Amino acid sequence: MTRHTLPGLVDVHVHLRVPGGEHKETVASGTAAALAGGVTALLAMPNTAPPITDGAALADARRRHAGALCDVGIFLGATDANAAAAAEAAGGACGLKIYVDETYGPLRIETLPALAAHFAAWPRGKPIVLHAEQVAVATAIGLGATYGQHVHIAHVSRAEEIALIADAKAAGLAVTCEVAPHHLFLTADDLPALGSFGLMRPPLARPADRDALWAHLDAVDCIATDHAPHTREEKLGDRPPPGVPGLETTLPLMLTAVHDGRLTLDRLVALTSTTPARLFGVPTPDESRVEVEIGPAWVLPERGYHTRADWSPFAGMTVRGRVRTTTLRGAEVFRDGEVRTAEPRGRVLFGGAAG
Ligand code: DOR
Ligand code: ZN
Repeated sequence: MTRHTLPGLVDVHVHLRVPGGEHKETVASGTAAALAGGVTALLAMPNTAPPITDGAALADARRRHAGALCDVGIFLGATDANAAAAAEAAGGACGLKIYVDETYGPLRIETLPALAAHFAAWPRGKPIVLHAEQVAVATAIGLGATYGQHVHIAHVSRAEEIALIADAKAAGLAVTCEVAPHHLFLTADDLPALGSFGLMRPPLARPADRDALWAHLDAVDCIATDHAPHTREEKLGDRPPPGVPGLETTLPLMLTAVHDGRLTLDRLVALTSTTPARLFGVPTPDESRVEVEIGPAWVLPERGYHTRADWSPFAGMTVRGRVRTTTLRGAEVFRDGEVRTAEPRGRVLFGGAAG
């Protein structure tokens, strides 16, 4: 068994469900899950109810996240009509999120004029993150090159997508990407066992896609959870919403990959902390860190997580990594399963009154 102290994780893709989805996750439960997973800063997605699409909604969301237990940045979401309003509010956001493909919630852009308006208006220097699948990845890369924007492709899941991104990088384009653990550790072959608990967007792919993500890990910039909590009842209902929680299982899974020799610990630190922090301008204080253990085997449980969803698509998997302690700006905020919630120490990032 070995112990290591790593920088706190920076998770650039989390759904905290605030405002409007607090029965799925709250700021308190979601950021407690973050600390339990070794995450000291997270970036929250704007597909809330209502969605975060202008300065007023962003200011309201920033206020609601003031009691966070870890640092939080918040995305603005793109609509067909808010290119100017989003650009104007950009200073208080960590980036712009554009949904080109089907997702949970009302945010979606399908027309070229609306996409181009955002790429033209958004201030250079903060990433434009796209939920773009298959041919839409090429659309996103083309728009980024045309308008001189940094394009970040969220949750890449297919062989042809990571191959195109690798080629775009080789051509010198300002393209980065993230991969989610569920696409690295699960495939459509797991769906019969998982049922609706295995449904998410992008969907679980073929084993060949999973293998291609591992083979192209050098083209991947970040591991991000796409933590998307929905309740058990919702997942078992007639129209199960897409999405799976992931904050508390990412390090156990990725440390298992380190244990198995699939990547080095240094590379894991780059993928989960230093590179996401650099790409999104997230401060990483030296005193924010996570102490992990690699070696002893244990089984990810069915229940007992800090996320309000309290289930995991990875339950039952044997892993060989564990978070022991998480420290935020010098204060130990998690130890051996227990989160200290008494005094919230998280900051709302990217300026503004709550920052
Ligand atoms: O599976 C998903 N769930 N994919 C998305 O794009 C959205 C997310 C959610 O908000 O639940
Ligand atoms: Zn997402």
